[in-house]
Amino acid sequence: MIGRSRLFAMTSLGLAVVLVLAVGFVGGRPVAAQAPAAQNAPPAAAPAPVPGPGDKTDTFFKNVKVLKGLPAELMQPSMQLIEISLGVHCVYCHDNDGAKRELDTKPQKEIARRMITMTQDINKTMFNGTNRVTCFTCHQGHTKPGQVVPYNDEQTRELTAMPIAAVMALNTGTQPPTTDQLINNAVNAIGGANNLSRASGRVLKGAVTNLAHLDEVHTERAVTSVTPFDVYVKGNSRMTVQHNINGDALNTYSATSSWLQAGNAPARALRADEREAARMEQAVLNPADFKTFLTGLKVAGQEKVGEHTTWVVEGKGQTLSDVKLYFDRDSGLLLSIAWQQPSYFCCHQFRIDYDNYKIAGGVRFPTKWTNNGPRQTILVYEMDTVQVDNAIEDARFMMPRATAQR
Ligand code: HEC
Ligand code: HEC
Repeated sequence: MIGRSRLFAMTSLGLAVVLVLAVGFVGGRPVAAQAPAAQNAPPAAAPAPVPGPGDKTDTFFKNVKVLKGLPAELMQPSMQLIEISLGVHCVYCHDNDGAKRELDTKPQKEIARRMITMTQDINKTMFNGTNRVTCFTCHQGHTKPGQVVPYNDEQTRELTAMPIAAVMALNTGTQPPTTDQLINNAVNAIGGANNLSRASGRVLKGAVTNLAHLDEVHTERAVTSVTPFDVYVKGNSRMTVQHNINGDALNTYSATSSWLQAGNAPARALRADEREAARMEQAVLNPADFKTFLTGLKVAGQEKVGEHTTWVVEGKGQTLSDVKLYFDRDSGLLLSIAWQQPSYFCCHQFRIDYDNYKIAGGVRFPTKWTNNGPRQTILVYEMDTVQVDNAIEDARFMMPRATAQR
């Protein structure tokens, strides 16, 4: 009995031909291309028999611990399904020697056993024993299932990231940049610390385009809308004004007072996490500021932002976790920021991509930015006029008094 399991463990091309006829796959790969070579293959041992209709997994195979009492002939298609679900080949879990599938030489095989048990348990306890949940339900073609809700069907950066060890393996002999170097480069790329400290007030005017992502939940968002939008920046304070049909929506960040007000509703102070997110946006205008409120900053690896390769710096805020800053490897400019907003569940992730850096009053700043939230509308802000204005009053940034204590 035991010897028959070699059917699933072929290395010999002679046996492979048998397998083509019997199953169609060897080691999870189509074998048609190997067929001609098989003619020159050394004579194979006696062909191993195929599992018959009556054979059971635990008696037919050598080392089955969880898939017990099942038809042995379904092992191969079941393994192929696992392969496809995780986007791997047999050797991801099995010994490199294809004749020894029974060996437990790789930790992934043991993890897979636990996953099989978990999946069986979920189906038993939650879905009346039907195979409702499969490996694919979670894995979707990746070894590590995503935790981050995709942005409008875009693949999450998490899945496309290259960790620092892999980057350095490709660039042997070089040193990765430090967080300080990346932040200094970004500061220099927009004018340098001196110019930034003396930057004039400015008013940006343009529009926000709501791309109205159409999904199954928010069918009302089918229509793209364009709304006039202004930004006032002075020192470390910033106010945005969105001119909605039903009244202006104000959003203000400053060191002393951060608040928002929409239409006729009373102003309210920003929640701690909203305030920190606003502080992130403000720090884009002077990246050295990130060091004043983010902790544990470290260079984590590289990721693509659009067509640009960026160095990714990871850190933690006071309320925001998983903060990421993306610095263009070539220009040094900060191209994107991301963070996780606190919620009952992991991972409510937000991201803003920056573009069209322009110069005014001695410093550069982005005049286009794109806000991405999970399965939300995508908001594209594009500013077409920039006015240097030193007369912006400080009072503008203060929360309206009557409603200050809400
Ligand atoms: C994600 C991990 C994973 C992948 C990929 C995978 N297997 Fe498996 N395989 C397992 C696990 C786990 C077992 C043991 C199941 C048990 O203990 O009940 C197993 C058992 C087997 C066995 C029985 C071995 C024995 O004699 O005990 C065969 C044969 C087998 N796999 C073939 C394959 C083939 C062929 C492929 C590629 C098409 C493949 N497997 C891909 C995890 C995997
Ligand atoms: C309920 C969701 C869920 C289901 C269903 C599920 N998995 Fe997983 N699996 C996970 C998560 C989450 C991880 C990743 C843990 C991590 O990130 O380290 C994981 C990790 C793994 C790994 C380790 C990958 C690695 O190299 O780090 C293997 C192997 C695996 N699963 C196999 C399977 C197989 C086989 C099935 C189907 C029998 C399955 N999983 C079903 C959630 C699931």
